Amino acid sequence: MDKPKVVLGVSGGIAAYKACELLRRLTESGHDVRVVPTASALNFVGEATWSALSGHPAVTQVWESVHEVPHVRIGQQADLVVVAPATADMLAKAAHGLADDLLTNTLLTARCPVVFAPAMHTEMWEHPATRENVATLRRRGAVVIEPAVGRLTGVDTGKGRLPDPDEIFEVCRRVLARGPRAADLAGRHVVVSAGGTREPLDPVRYLGNRSSGRQGYALARTAVARGARVTLVSANSELADPAGADVVRVGTAVQLREAVLKAAADADAVVMAAAVADFRPARYATGKIKKKDGEEPAPVELVRNPDVLAELSAGRARPGQVVVGFAAETDDVLANGRAKLARKGCDLLVVNEVGERRTFGSTENEAVVLGADGSATEVPHGPKEALADTVWDLVAERLC
Ligand code: CTP
Repeated sequence: MDKPKVVLGVSGGIAAYKACELLRRLTESGHDVRVVPTASALNFVGEATWSALSGHPAVTQVWESVHEVPHVRIGQQADLVVVAPATADMLAKAAHGLADDLLTNTLLTARCPVVFAPAMHTEMWEHPATRENVATLRRRGAVVIEPAVGRLTGVDTGKGRLPDPDEIFEVCRRVLARGPRAADLAGRHVVVSAGGTREPLDPVRYLGNRSSGRQGYALARTAVARGARVTLVSANSELADPAGADVVRVGTAVQLREAVLKAAADADAVVMAAAVADFRPARYATGKIKKKDGEEPAPVELVRNPDVLAELSAGRARPGQVVVGFAAETDDVLANGRAKLARKGCDLLVVNEVGERRTFGSTENEAVVLGADGSATEVPHGPKEALADTVWDLVAERLC
């Protein structure tokens, strides 16, 4: 079989050096990569590096090898175009259809999925012009992944870093695997909660649960690859931030509720994969609770936490918003799932059986997704990303 053809567009930002690593990952995993740098990208990394690493000449202008009509051919033949780093200038040109060099021509002729991995200073990313350009590109079906937060050029820190090349590679792999169906969530905002809440008793102890966050993180990663703008509300997970998602970290159920409701205000879909504690200690001891010789331990009084899923379902922030819950059950899995779906009022409920060695902390899962319309979709035992993709398939069918 032919190797998948990838165009790696590189625009002129300091993060261009990280694209060398992305190029290596792509070529070493069996992709045929053409690098198309802009003239300014060559100020950061030279033509020799791109050619040597890709095994193809790295051309910036349409005037070289004109007989091969490169400005049309490279884009037409590609299975994927990934622009990393994508500068504010590149996003603006792509959004407005300008074509003054080989990369911008290629973006106009490509009919395959296109991924932009922006990198710039926070002010440039937040500028209304850039916001609008990104929204335009997403509406048209491009996958624009959110920049990471961290150290920028010089001494600044903030949002605008190019995500890790390994992470961009994973996004590319997922987008390629989906082929032309790639960006069915483009232009959509989705919110995913993940992990497990911790309800503090005192400064050192809490009531918690065993959720690792893996299923929620898989939902966030797959939604990024399907083109969505993703807000991941993460409760106490130790997993690395998924590339391309906005991550909001929370601790308790009350904090999770606040973050989810805020993000849900303009969301097309909300998926509650987090294990939210149903109860919290009625009182928080500001000093560590000490044992006293000869005294019985004091009972812990609990109060109910808000039910975020039920609240989201009852008061949809926008018409047509799709709300998805998860149910972890140990017995009577389907009957309990149906009853929970009705009780919570959500559109879809992912029901999985849990036990000592099942689901928690595992990279695999098996579930049935129940729909409020009476549907039941069985998802066989497999990677959590496969279950995540089925959830997004069912969400995409329900989005209007
Ligand atoms: N959930 C929530 N807020 C809570 C508790 C749960 O939003 N306070 C959400 C979870 O994120 C999940 C779904 O509700 O999507 C199911 O959670 P679960 O605890 O299994 O449901 P309960 O109704 O609490 O049922 P059970 O009696 O089995 O605990």
